[in-house]
Amino acid sequence: MVFNASIHYRDGALMIDDISVELIADEVGSPVYIYSLKRVRENLRRLQRAFASIDAHIHYSAKANSNSAVLRAVSKAGAGIDAVSGGEIQRALMAGARAEDIVFAGVAKTRDEIDYAVKSGVGWINVENALEMEHINAAAESLRIGEVKAALRFNPQVEAKTHRYMSTGHGAAKFGMTAASIGRILADCCRLPQVNVAGLHMHIGSQLGDTTATAEALSKLLALAKRYPQIDTLNLGGGLPVAYRFDETAPAMEEFAAEIAGLLRGYRVLLEPGRAIVADAGMLVVTVLYVKRQAGKLFIIVDGSMAELIRPALYQAHHEIVPLIESCGDTYTAQVVGPVCESADVLAWERELPRLEVGDRLAVMTTGAYGMAMASNYNSRLRPAEVVVEASGGSWRVSRRRETIDDILRLERLTSE
Ligand code: LLP
Repeated sequence: MVFNASIHYRDGALMIDDISVELIADEVGSPVYIYSLKRVRENLRRLQRAFASIDAHIHYSAKANSNSAVLRAVSKAGAGIDAVSGGEIQRALMAGARAEDIVFAGVAKTRDEIDYAVKSGVGWINVENALEMEHINAAAESLRIGEVKAALRFNPQVEAKTHRYMSTGHGAAKFGMTAASIGRILADCCRLPQVNVAGLHMHIGSQLGDTTATAEALSKLLALAKRYPQIDTLNLGGGLPVAYRFDETAPAMEEFAAEIAGLLRGYRVLLEPGRAIVADAGMLVVTVLYVKRQAGKLFIIVDGSMAELIRPALYQAHHEIVPLIESCGDTYTAQVVGPVCESADVLAWERELPRLEVGDRLAVMTTGAYGMAMASNYNSRLRPAEVVVEASGGSWRVSRRRETIDDILRLERLTSE
């Protein structure tokens, strides 16, 4: 069975490019995240080609997966970075991104973060309120840095069809600004000579399954942009969807790109996709610790939990789960749960799985985006190792080692009493 160009069974063994997943898990242990850099590059290339007609520049959204090997791979392949904190800017720079290829976004940037971004020379700052404009101007003035390019984030008051936690462009959301606020900032911006407002930004949500809301939001954005001749750049954010189920195919972005190409003529276009570049390049490997039958239910208890992958608990997200050794035998319906002390600690509800035994390993698929990036130390669990299979497909390495309890405890000053 083939899951995508990089993940498939070969002679009954799950492979990521040319490497056996079992071999990695044997050496590194579980739980472990594994990413195919080849797949990351292919996904990026496909997006670059799809949006070539509008000459869009892709800024990979680091929040989806900020592993340094991933950031380096996308930077080398020509993508800029969308960073949402000083930490993400620093990671991007360390991974080799050029400062001018970094877009700094975020609903509440601190003064320190703004100073750091301005000092680093990031290409763009996506602004979410009027006070932030003052902060950017002051930072550029005191650091004696010329103009900083800013894009004002527009909230188009459009409800995207996605999980409610991922819908960001409706009127009640904390994100962006109304057309009226943007108008006021633009009318007043000659007061802030260090900030060059040359762009508008918009991101109406993530995992956007249909393009209706995007099209509506885009027409509102264009209407606004046309009122202001200084606006030459439109940043359309991220949100491109991926298929999480085997029987699903994600809408083709080529079609969407073709639909919007005509509308955007004359503007420089930036995009900030995260998920579409990394989600299906990654998996989380877990090991069965116990099998328990209780109250008519079957629980497969594994060593991975909501601390390593919170998406099922937080968004009721579906991730396919497959054994590392292909099985054609009997199946049963089970819940895949982790060791964390929460009833929400579920990786899959009522899932048809092959019969499993203690020690069997499973791959939780399509977890390259918002997996490790959202992992925590809840229950004093140690964040897992991250392994990358190099773009050649034939070699792998640990990109981030598994945490140890000392990594966590050294942040606390322990008294002897
Ligand atoms: N740009 C902005 C301003 C964003 O807020 C986001 C995502 C992106 C770009 C990238 O969106 P993408 O292309 O990855 O959909 N934790 C959730 C997703 C939250 C997305 C937050 N913002 C999840 O696990 O599905």
